[in-house]
Amino acid sequence: MRLLVTGGAGFIGSEFVRMTLRDHLEDSVIVLDKLTYAGNERNLDPVRVDPRFRFVKGDIADQSVVDPLASECDVIVNFAAESHVDRSLEAPGQFIMTDVYGTYVLLEAARSAGHERFLQVSTDEVYGDVADGRSREGDPLRPRSPYSASKAGGELLVQAYRASHGLPAIVTRGSNTYGWYQYPEKIIPLFITNALEDRPLPIYGDGSAVRDYIFVEDHCRGIDLALREGVPGEEYNIGAGQEISGTTVAETVLRLLDKPAALQQFVSDRPGHDRRYALDSSKLRALGWEPRVDFGKGMETTVAWYVEHREWWSPLKSGEFWEFYRRNYKPVGSGAP
Ligand code: NAD
Ligand code: TYD
Repeated sequence: MRLLVTGGAGFIGSEFVRMTLRDHLEDSVIVLDKLTYAGNERNLDPVRVDPRFRFVKGDIADQSVVDPLASECDVIVNFAAESHVDRSLEAPGQFIMTDVYGTYVLLEAARSAGHERFLQVSTDEVYGDVADGRSREGDPLRPRSPYSASKAGGELLVQAYRASHGLPAIVTRGSNTYGWYQYPEKIIPLFITNALEDRPLPIYGDGSAVRDYIFVEDHCRGIDLALREGVPGEEYNIGAGQEISGTTVAETVLRLLDKPAALQQFVSDRPGHDRRYALDSSKLRALGWEPRVDFGKGMETTVAWYVEHREWWSPLKSGEFWEFYRRNYKPVGSGAP
């Protein structure tokens, strides 16, 4: 299979590329990535010398870049996205450009090239806040942030291309993912790197909001299975079924690094903060997938990786990172988002 992997220099996309080239010796991969603040070519160092791998810097919203690459491949796996909810609250325009318009450009390219598969990497956040039970694939999409609305918009275009043009497209909806090579803005890598620098761990609101965390390898094995064995036209949830609160993330990081509880800092809540995500992944499990790494083991592995790879994350926490940080995090009671 010749894969065009967009967003392959990011956190999950780079894991998927490394895994594909390791586990599918007959496959080749072209990565198309714009290298935004979250993209990092170093994530692809382990495969750089592989003759089956090629990197192209470019924007998925640019048809003149996408079309020729699509014509060299059999499938597109679309990881490219603006992916951080807090940034989508401040500046949603680029989310709509990449996550919605960019998906449209890729779908058109796949249609013209007559691709045998299109895999859209989506998120459990499209279901919105889940008060009870677990989201299933047929549930309505009720996104509540500009990020999740953009991802839902991308998904709806995928559905339209299936129905209108018979494009053999699959959607995966993964839950909150953590592990090595994650840019230190999402809660887990932020809290680990802050703790390593003896900085406070900013917990939104009362810290009770829950996420269904999954280790990055488990997420990528799920995407790989959906791509190869999934039924075109279907959606697949990918979640490990582990409900963990913000406070538990902070406590786990501090315990693993032997840092004081005093580093926990409660800050103003995120506007429109979804209280809970939880996935029912039995549809993908029926294809033979199951998560292999529980939260305890995954956190040990992840913390150890950040301890050993300071040279990877330390340069990322500079300049624009701190400018955004200062704008985003406000003391409790300030009334500001
Ligand atoms: P990330 O922010 O680490 O990486 C995104 C990558 O996309 C970066 O390399 C970036 O340079 C690239 N990119 C952004 N805009 C682009 C554009 N216009 N053209 C080409 N490349 C562009 O994100 P991630 O956490 O690895 O997430 C990857 C995908 O998985 C996203 O689609 C995201 O919505 C989805 N997802 C993420 C999570 C999670 O917890 N991180 C959970 C479920 C689904
Ligand atoms: P995040 O990692 O941003 O992922 P998402 O919003 O896409 O689920 O946030 C995960 C949870 O952690 C969410 O409930 C918000 C909370 N959180 C904090 O408490 N502090 C932080 O600094 C961040 C980034 C998130």
